[in-house]
Amino acid sequence: MRHPLVMGNWKLNGSTHMVNELITDLRKELSSITGCDVAIAPPALYLSQAKQALAGSRIALGAQDVDVNLSGAFTGETSATMLKDIGAEYIIIGHSERRTYHQESDEFIAKKFAILKQQGLIPVLCIGETEQENEAGQTETVCARQINAVLNTLGAEAFQGAVIAYEPVWAIGTGKSATPAQAQAVHKFIRDHIAKRDEVIAQQIIIQYGGSVNADNATELFAQPDIDGALVGGASLKADAFAIIVKAAAAKKA
Ligand code: PGA
Repeated sequence: MRHPLVMGNWKLNGSTHMVNELITDLRKELSSITGCDVAIAPPALYLSQAKQALAGSRIALGAQDVDVNLSGAFTGETSATMLKDIGAEYIIIGHSERRTYHQESDEFIAKKFAILKQQGLIPVLCIGETEQENEAGQTETVCARQINAVLNTLGAEAFQGAVIAYEPVWAIGTGKSATPAQAQAVHKFIRDHIAKRDEVIAQQIIIQYGGSVNADNATELFAQPDIDGALVGGASLKADAFAIIVKAAAAKKA
């Protein structure tokens, strides 16, 4: 059985004070949780501080992005070796905000996937269609294209131990989550798509849902057979809301 993963994507939010306070609260709220893996991805600048604040807890450290290069003249970037060095494990790549505001292509994101695998880190590959693509009935085509960029260059084996986050762009930060049935249909499509290359890996891979997941809709979403947890933005900045989401995912396993 797959172990659900709930991960908080803090995006461009935080301060030294907030990092300590939120992690202290999360440790309290989540101290007795088993049956669900938990990770948080603060901004790169606070990763080291977060790692220290998380010491001895079951909450893993994640990061929001990585560069395709390991070192050198690449001003402003953070490498996979650096992330590994400071103890980050789950690395978000291909988030729609990176695709949109930084013009990241499927091919470029596949390179990030490759460098993370090479360094033994866990890629959390975000995929998902825009509202326009959704209305044009292109959801499956878009998701397949985004996955194929990795499948066709690295093979299905690359997905062993990796995570996919299905995040319909129209649901991110809008308060308008996909319905459980809508999300389940796409998650099943994604799993079947990978199964065409490797049935075992398809059954093992964690497929998170992301897009306006909150304390009220988490249980219903996690009741779907192919939804293995969530990538949470806004609600991950509040310890109580995030804890309710984690508990809902842990209950799925039990
Ligand atoms: P949201 O963000 O939960 O605020 O919609 C999700 C994400 O972008 O990962």
